[in-house]
Amino acid sequence: MSLAKVTPLETLAAWLAEAEAARVLEPAAMALATVSPSGVPSVRFVLCRGIDSRGVRFFTNYDSRKGRDLAAHARMMQRMAGWFDGFGSNNGAMHVRLRGRGKDGRLQSRTWTLVAENGDGPRVPTLAAVLLTKKLLNVPGFAPITLRGATPASNLLTLREFEGEWRSLAIRTTVTGETCAQASENFATATSRRVT
Ligand SMILES: Cc1cc2nc3c(=O)[nH]c(=O)nc-3n(C[C@H](O)[C@H](O)[C@H](O)COP(=O)(O)O)c2cc1C
Repeated sequence: MSLAKVTPLETLAAWLAEAEAARVLEPAAMALATVSPSGVPSVRFVLCRGIDSRGVRFFTNYDSRKGRDLAAHARMMQRMAGWFDGFGSNNGAMHVRLRGRGKDGRLQSRTWTLVAENGDGPRVPTLAAVLLTKKLLNVPGFAPITLRGATPASNLLTLREFEGEWRSLAIRTTVTGETCAQASENFATATSRRVT
């Protein structure tokens, strides 16, 4: 589906409908995080029983821990969430900047930038799960994961695999490099700022 010009709740409702149509096990199960009046966080699963412009509906006991946590904070949090409505847009971006010395010993800097348009930003954090699922299911064209048990996740997914996954989305990336002179200057400024 295109995510252009839809609210986050409409997007969530569409994703839930997709999961239901795909007959995913417990598609309506969602993690609900709350915090107690004394600041202790808790997270547990509840079933989503509907989504409309007022929010996400679930059923529970008002006297439960989550009921008491929500009674203490939910109204205030909902009011505060509205303060940021005007800042939202359908576009998102992230930068990863690497700085260090090249083989020649000179300072270098590279910045990788990802821009997601048409509301495709929320898809970005889901791509790792999509790729891992394909690999675990041995989908042709995806290098299978042969490791078993607890293992470091680094190196399981490559940037090339991510690029293949977002080809159908409104996502583009660029890599820019600073000249050594710029990198040195910026590095020196950043270091002196840290020191002072
Ligand atoms: C898949 C799944 C769905 C659940 N759905 C609900 C639900 O809709 N409402 C509910 O109160 N508890 C539900 N539970 C139980 C909660 O996760 C939780 O254990 C219980 O409500 C007590 O939470 P609390 O003490 O933090 O308030 C569900 C648990 C699972 C595993």
